[in-house]
Amino acid sequence: MKSFFLSALTSLAAIPFLQTSAFPNAPFVTSQRWIHDSTGENFTYAGVNWPGAGEVMIPEGLQYQSIASIVSKIKSLKMNVVRLTFAIEMIDDIKDNGGDVTVQRAFVKALGSTNGEKVFQQVIKNNPTISTSTTRLQVFDAIAAELQKQQIYVHLDNHMSKGAWCCSGNDGNAWFGDRYFDTAKWKRGVAFMAEHGKAWPNLISIGLRNEYRKPDSAGSSLPYNWATWYTHNMELATAVNAANPALLIFLSGLDYDTKLTPIPGAQDLGNGQRFRLTDFRYANKLVLELHNYQNDAGSCGDIEGGLWDNGFRATYNTNDIVNKMPVVLTEFGFSQTGSEHTRPYATCIRTLMQKWQTGWTVWVLSGSYYIRSGTQDYEESWGLLNHQWTDWRSAGAIDALKGMVEVSLKG
Ligand SMILES: *[C@@H]1O[C@H](CO)[C@@H](O)[C@H](O)[C@H]1NC(C)=O
Repeated sequence: MKSFFLSALTSLAAIPFLQTSAFPNAPFVTSQRWIHDSTGENFTYAGVNWPGAGEVMIPEGLQYQSIASIVSKIKSLKMNVVRLTFAIEMIDDIKDNGGDVTVQRAFVKALGSTNGEKVFQQVIKNNPTISTSTTRLQVFDAIAAELQKQQIYVHLDNHMSKGAWCCSGNDGNAWFGDRYFDTAKWKRGVAFMAEHGKAWPNLISIGLRNEYRKPDSAGSSLPYNWATWYTHNMELATAVNAANPALLIFLSGLDYDTKLTPIPGAQDLGNGQRFRLTDFRYANKLVLELHNYQNDAGSCGDIEGGLWDNGFRATYNTNDIVNKMPVVLTEFGFSQTGSEHTRPYATCIRTLMQKWQTGWTVWVLSGSYYIRSGTQDYEESWGLLNHQWTDWRSAGAIDALKGMVEVSLKG
């Protein structure tokens, strides 16, 4: 009796502890170069990109698999986060065009009536909770909910304004004021998703915009420089923080998000303006993100110095680093068809993420796209999954990736 009573007391006493350390332990904050969860533990992003910013504006793969089975595959790699991409056009439809488009209508619009209807039928066969009345945003909700159930975090990423494959200098989405890049609608759309995401307990962060780049033809674009970058990113960061103060806010750089060079050292942005964390009340919410695709590098030396100087040095604790911040490599990746995972590029990225103790999300989960660059059911040779999303494309590449996850999670 006595021992039973004691053990009952012990387990009762354990309950509050269990509650405070239960997933998702959000919101997250930064502390210099580290990201902490709400219990004060370090958190390192180790995850994958799941694209949802193509013409259909619905996360890919649902014509082949259920949301639950796709999330289980991510979980089997022990990844802790998904970078889920969205297009501003979805929010423009919600705000200006009579509300969100149904999944069915989205497929018909993007793929034509015959193929659109056919693919929609496949989607609802695999995902019976999706119906003719389900909207695109409700699919995002369902994916976030399944990720929450399987204890994986969501990082939202505004990938494009107009839903399409990204990125080039002539796709109209390159820079503020470009053909489809309406700066006001971008701000409205990202703030909307930040607000909407309050309903997702596992949403920890949002990327304001993927891969800024110089538009091939300037048109009505604003000047392509750091001053413009600063004005609009920081205006939106403030709006996002007001809409959802819990979120970490990721800032991406110029030239396809390969350069955040003047940020760590608070250099002059060209107009006397300097980026200083101390200027923002939400300084402990700001994170830098970079991309790297130097796939042809002959050795790690071709990559390391540049990647460091272009932004990762914000993680270094010396006096010249005015803005000590976390940096996450939100895109890198390579073909899964050959032995790319053994070449210098892949081994270098693995080595650097370990050496610098920095987080990452690999490009890309999708074995195929509903449509990409005009081709329907487009084969993605860089996809971790095969065309039908049934299995991994390359056992060797996946083993290496699992090893990378393990190292990152060890901290
Ligand atoms: C985070 O990790 C670093 C490096 O391992 C360590 O120095 C630091 O104490 C950790 N912080 C916490 C809160 O565990």
